[in-house]
Amino acid sequence: MPDTQKTLVLLKPDALQRDLLGEIVIRFERKGLKIVGMKLIRLTDDLLDEHYAHHVDKPFFASLKKFMMQTPVVGIVLEGINAIDEVRKIVGSTNPQEADAGTIRADFSMHVGSNLIHASDTVENAQAELKRFFSDDEIFQYDKITDSYVFGD
Ligand code: RTP
Ligand code: MG
Repeated sequence: MPDTQKTLVLLKPDALQRDLLGEIVIRFERKGLKIVGMKLIRLTDDLLDEHYAHHVDKPFFASLKKFMMQTPVVGIVLEGINAIDEVRKIVGSTNPQEADAGTIRADFSMHVGSNLIHASDTVENAQAELKRFFSDDEIFQYDKITDSYVFGD
């Protein structure tokens, strides 16, 4: 199996409220990404301060945090070839108005404040975010019978 990456996805409260969890997960499954971690997470103020530290001075910071605490979120760890960039491609641009048709954000959302999903954007951030939301024993390594078809030999 070639080198793979792991990346973190969070399905935000709007995805849960709007019953879009399955709709979103199926896009990653169809791509061939392997689900190696998955759970509900109740986000806290401290976790969100850390996760959105780059937005602390933005006017939407408080409302973003409040929104992210409305319901639990679904945390997913996906593994695949070049997974970080590939997942961002499937997710689409931050603002759904600018996202390409066929991406999750373009197809299912309209407003930047409720864009359904978070995905790690760099190798460094993916590593930090996996650590932030998952313990080592919540991330699994397993073979699938389709591995060689999806990842090559
Ligand atoms: P994410 O971290 O959620 O995957 O999104 P992203 O990288 O595409 O965008 P980022 O710049 O990291 O922003 C994080 C989240 O903050 C909210 N946001 N609201 N009202 C606004 O102008 C605004 N800008 C960003 C979005 O929910 C975005 O996903
Ligand atoms: Mg981001």
